[in-house]
Amino acid sequence: MPTTLAFDIYGTLIDTHGVVNALRAIVGERTEAFSSTWRDKQLEYAFRRGLMRNYVDFAVCTRQALDYTCAVNGIAMSGEQKGALLAEYRCLPAFPDVGDGLAQLRDAGFRLYAFSNGTESAVAALLTGAGIADFFIDIVSVDDLASFKPDPAVYDLFLRRAGTSGDAAWLVSSNPFDVIGAISAGMRAAWLRRSPDAVFDPWDMAPTATVAGLGELKAVIGGHHSDRAP
Ligand code: 2OP
Repeated sequence: MPTTLAFDIYGTLIDTHGVVNALRAIVGERTEAFSSTWRDKQLEYAFRRGLMRNYVDFAVCTRQALDYTCAVNGIAMSGEQKGALLAEYRCLPAFPDVGDGLAQLRDAGFRLYAFSNGTESAVAALLTGAGIADFFIDIVSVDDLASFKPDPAVYDLFLRRAGTSGDAAWLVSSNPFDVIGAISAGMRAAWLRRSPDAVFDPWDMAPTATVAGLGELKAVIGGHHSDRAP
């Protein structure tokens, strides 16, 4: 069975920094701190809603996290400004290494999927806008299960939808919570450490592999499956 790769989207294939540029025009020197709080709160809302079994579209988590970040910073952002920022989130570029990296992995025989907290329609629009939609066999969204990463059920959903098993499937993500969630659910996982400053959670579960770019994946993953073609 060829090896299946499940690619996380936000921060892994898609560079959310485009939102930061739009944000800078509104909040100026507080941009980096604002952006970090917004992302952390977006994910916190997804974790909480998953645990509460009170699911909403990930875009709602993003919008409510923006509202929280404005409130906690005492920033009275207009509805128009918020709308413009959320529109940026819907159309973002891929990182520079993604096109060539995905082509190399597809040509080597790996089965490529997009796997995200975002809804299928939101992820499809992002991938199309970034020019990388054609690399993927399918998009698997947690929306089908009305839960969020790292609920083990969403990794099981992925394996069922991709028609594979944990030992033949890798998650590729820049998000340590996602890497640990996939390993905890029985998959292998490559941490895409895009920044040398990124820190992996000091749990008792380490990534199966750590890479700095997609170009390293073919050799690294191939080395774990030397007994089979990708
Ligand atoms: C995802 O795309 C939230 O980055 C995470 O699922």
